[in-house]
Amino acid sequence: MTDDTDAPPLSFYDEVGGHETFVRLVDGFYRGVATDDVLKPMYPEEDLGPAAERLTMFLEQYWGGPTTYSERRGHPRLRARHNAFHVNPDARDRWLRHMRASLDALDLPPLHEATLWDYLERAAMAMVNTFEAAPIGPPSGGRTGLTASVAGPHHPPVPKPPATD
Ligand code: HEM
Repeated sequence: MTDDTDAPPLSFYDEVGGHETFVRLVDGFYRGVATDDVLKPMYPEEDLGPAAERLTMFLEQYWGGPTTYSERRGHPRLRARHNAFHVNPDARDRWLRHMRASLDALDLPPLHEATLWDYLERAAMAMVNTFEAAPIGPPSGGRTGLTASVAGPHHPPVPKPPATD
């Protein structure tokens, strides 16, 4: 150790580059999502900007940065919030592919990169809530992901994943 002051240890958020790093990670990720014909239609808003801001705030808070996410959105309850969306293994793999590309572009030190990736991979595994290839229900004018979730689960129970939030 070269630092023998009483300063509190840096959070991973600080170590990895703080706000700028998370903004770059999430912006790069959403640039990929914008081109993805499975993921893009899942997003309720045409403009991905607000979704990018929510993900940035969440990741910053998770890694020890500002707690703005919870101040604005309450408890993350990520699994529950994703129940409205059809997150099958294909969606998960696409999500991870865009995240991987964005993370690679950051060119972080290997330990930081591996720490982030390990978390993102596990979190994405935990978000899978169906093994159905496509949403079940009438093709148009019928249930959307959102109303289907209100109506109750329409897929076999998925084993409880490790906590992610
Ligand atoms: C596995 C594939 C995933 C898919 C297809 C997916 C899809 C979505 C969609 C469609 C939304 C709604 C956009 C919005 O309005 O904010 C959303 C929200 C969100 N997702 Fe995911 N997601 C996935 C995984 C993850 C993972 C792994 C994390 C965390 C590491 C995450 C964190 C979030 C957060 C923080 C929000 C905003 C929640 C809120 O405050 O309302 N997602 N996701």
